[in-house]
Amino acid sequence: MKIAIDGTAASGKGTLARSLAKELGYDYLDTGLLYRSVALQAKEHGIIDLNISDKKIAIARSKIRKLINIAHLLTLPLLDKPDLRSQETSLLAAKIANLPEIRDILLEKQRLFANKPTSGLGVVLDGRDIGTIVLPDAEFKFFIDAKPEIRAKRRFAELKKSDSEVLEQTLLDEINKRDAEDWTRRIAPLKRLPNAFFIDSSSLNADEVLQIALNYING
Ligand code: CDP
Repeated sequence: MKIAIDGTAASGKGTLARSLAKELGYDYLDTGLLYRSVALQAKEHGIIDLNISDKKIAIARSKIRKLINIAHLLTLPLLDKPDLRSQETSLLAAKIANLPEIRDILLEKQRLFANKPTSGLGVVLDGRDIGTIVLPDAEFKFFIDAKPEIRAKRRFAELKKSDSEVLEQTLLDEINKRDAEDWTRRIAPLKRLPNAFFIDSSSLNADEVLQIALNYING
């Protein structure tokens, strides 16, 4: 059984995916972590930084070759670390997500993971292109969204726990920018498929979203 969950940044898709997997005893993969891991390692090796434009990375063959090596060496499942969630890694991951060579390698890894669940039961993957590209054959597809102001508030509450000093308005600006990038990206843009079950989580808590998803799955 394959469950694909796509949605906007900070919409609660990761929370839903994790709790659904737990509830059903399935394997779970946060696919954003793959892009974040390549980005973080690329930064640590001095291959990319925030000043480099997407176009410049795309034409620098030597950089692409190094990124390809990093992507090939990733082994799943990945460990979630605070560095992977930083603002800087988010911005760098968005650059990495624009490179077709890297997407192809990560696509293979996501499909391998989905086809061999250690649970033997099923998988839940969350990201931007799961229902459209990674698992078009998924039995259940979800699309999760919420109003940008609500998503910024949630991110703000999350970051406050780690003593971050970021402003809520800055987070809202970033979410709006990320939405624009995700919906209009040339390769694998975010798309709301007609056969994906849509949940607007603006006025729902995590448990309510989980119950709605479970009701849909259980028919
Ligand atoms: O939820 P949030 O936007 O904070 O981050 P994420 O889901 O961890 O995604 C990190 C980056 O990877 C974003 O720029 C996504 O657009 C990109 N991504 C992607 O292109 N395809 C996926 N399947 C998952 C993430």
